[in-house]
Amino acid sequence: MDRIEKAGGASLADRRVVVIGGASGIGRAVAEAARGQGARVVIAGHDAGRTRIAAEALGVEGLVADLGDRGSLDALFRAVGSLDHLVVTAGPQFGSPAFAQLDLAAARRAFEVKLWGAAEAVQAALPHLAPDGSVTLTSGLLSRRAGKGSLAKTVMNAAVEALGKALAKELAPLRVNVVSPGVTATENWRAVPAAERDAFFAKVGAGLPAGRVGRADEVAAAFLFAMTTGFVTGSVIDVDGGGLL
Ligand SMILES: NC(=O)c1ccc[n+]([C@@H]2O[C@H](COP(=O)([O-])OP(=O)(O)OC[C@H]3O[C@@H](n4cnc5c(N)ncnc54)[C@H](OP(=O)(O)O)[C@@H]3O)[C@@H](O)[C@H]2O)c1
Repeated sequence: MDRIEKAGGASLADRRVVVIGGASGIGRAVAEAARGQGARVVIAGHDAGRTRIAAEALGVEGLVADLGDRGSLDALFRAVGSLDHLVVTAGPQFGSPAFAQLDLAAARRAFEVKLWGAAEAVQAALPHLAPDGSVTLTSGLLSRRAGKGSLAKTVMNAAVEALGKALAKELAPLRVNVVSPGVTATENWRAVPAAERDAFFAKVGAGLPAGRVGRADEVAAAFLFAMTTGFVTGSVIDVDGGGLL
């Protein structure tokens, strides 16, 4: 009983939180929310300029690291030192081509970064991570809702969810979770022309029980829940406006 009662909800105050992908979108919202709760936040991204600008705007530390480059991840965690929570939101941008037109070599490269890049980040962080800390990865609704043109994203996001569950067993008592966003209005959609993007958001939103697509801060709240709730591990937390229904 004593152990159960003592294992209360963990505050982020003065905790060291590293967000790989924190220069934009959901990762940036996680960094902002964690900082708002008193965490000492480091954001990491592969673009030095964008990472520096975001870090200055957020008032956090910004370091360069590429999920596709293990050496840069090792250097990141050497520079950070001890940390309590690792969040990985970084992921490649990938469209939704029909399977017949799918560039399988490009899909392999994207899969490599999203799945094995996340695994490399966790392995590089491991010697520095507090045993009572956490890792939170990012998948996406298509992991369990395949559609035409979704193959690459369905496969890579399903694999990230499997990775999270396997690591939760393997690395316990460190907790490992995955947040699965539905369509969320972030820079992730910047390659789509604004009018087309807005029409897409409106169409998707109209088909959701929530009646709209998501905001980055709403998805970020799930990452904070995963970081601060000691009884949550091996979970996939869906934040998708009801998109899986
Ligand atoms: N937004 C959605 O609708 C949605 C839906 C489902 C799932 N997701 C997933 O949620 C995650 C976050 O997406 P988001 O919407 O926040 O997108 P975002 O705004 O594009 O953020 C992704 C961040 O990751 C960085 N990044 C990309 N490749 C990287 C690499 N190899 N190494 C280090 N950093 C890298 C990007 O930097 P650059 O800008 O410099 O490339 C960017 O800062 C992604 O994994 C995405 O697949 C998003």
